[in-house]
Amino acid sequence: MRTAAEIEHAAVVLRAGQLVAFPTETVYGLGADATNASALHRLYAAKGRPADHPVIVHLGAGADLEAWATEVPEAARALAGAFWPGPLTLVLRAAPHVSRVATGGLETVGLRVPGHPVAIALLAAFGGGIAAPSANRFGRVSSTTAEAVRREFGGEVETVLDGACAVGIESTIVDCSVDEPRVLRPGAITLEHIADLLGARPELGGATRAPGTLATHYAPDARIEIVTASELEARIHELDDTNVTFGVITFGPEPHPVGPTNAVTLATPASIEEYANVLYSTLRKADDLGMDVVLAVAPPVDGLGAAVMDRLGRAAAGR
Ligand code: TXA
Ligand code: MG
Repeated sequence: MRTAAEIEHAAVVLRAGQLVAFPTETVYGLGADATNASALHRLYAAKGRPADHPVIVHLGAGADLEAWATEVPEAARALAGAFWPGPLTLVLRAAPHVSRVATGGLETVGLRVPGHPVAIALLAAFGGGIAAPSANRFGRVSSTTAEAVRREFGGEVETVLDGACAVGIESTIVDCSVDEPRVLRPGAITLEHIADLLGARPELGGATRAPGTLATHYAPDARIEIVTASELEARIHELDDTNVTFGVITFGPEPHPVGPTNAVTLATPASIEEYANVLYSTLRKADDLGMDVVLAVAPPVDGLGAAVMDRLGRAAAGR
């Protein structure tokens, strides 16, 4: 756990309009004071992110939603009550004073109350909203460790708080600014969780702009090929006959023996939670090793599997 002094220092850095990277239960955030336009410009510049891509504003538990949103529909209240603090972002109509730099010029704002102890402590010390996109350069794989953040941004981000990201992939985004809530990005709060709470399965995707849902996001340098467990062995043998360097992500409780091969075993998640947890660090590892190709075994697409497949699909499309 961070010391109180480190957290207090990070809060001072935020107040001074500088950037702080901090762990959340999903992925690392690159944080700036959500009310400081110049800090927000600095944030967009560090990420290389287009100005019309909104960022999520992180709030402490018990924050007054009305201070950020003009309208908080019943469904949003129910979702917040059930899943905050946690890996859920709600898109709501933005209150007039909310910086349109943070919203990418939209009249809606993404709000999230994270559950990670370091994020909670930082939000409490800072006392306001922290705008924080994932701590990666635009279009790249999200960071799930302090080391990955430091490598990604070098000295540009002076303060990086340490902590582990238990979920490993970004929050579920639910657009509650429209009549029927829609899931703009699947995550650890699953469609099934939301359906159980709201009594109806929400639509996935939507007319609302959510640039993180561009097909070209979350892309490593390696080419990602998604295969079924039964296709894996044949594909390994095909690639063994070429000169590409390649790695494999298997999936399932049983290890998957394939016999002698040039393939590097990158990860062997036994559960879908583990798959989500190791996904981004594994893609980074593949790039560190200079792999040409990663063969990733597709998980079933229910529950958290929908979110893992979503990220794998974007990583595969990203080249
Ligand atoms: O788990 C997460 O959500 C992480 C951690 C740090 O909280 N953050 C994150 O931020 O993934 P970012 O910026 O990489 O992705 C935010 C996504 C983008 O796809 C953005 O388009 C969408 O949220 N978003 C934010 N505000 C929105 C809005 N007002 N309307 C529609 N989409 C919005
Ligand atoms: Mg991102």
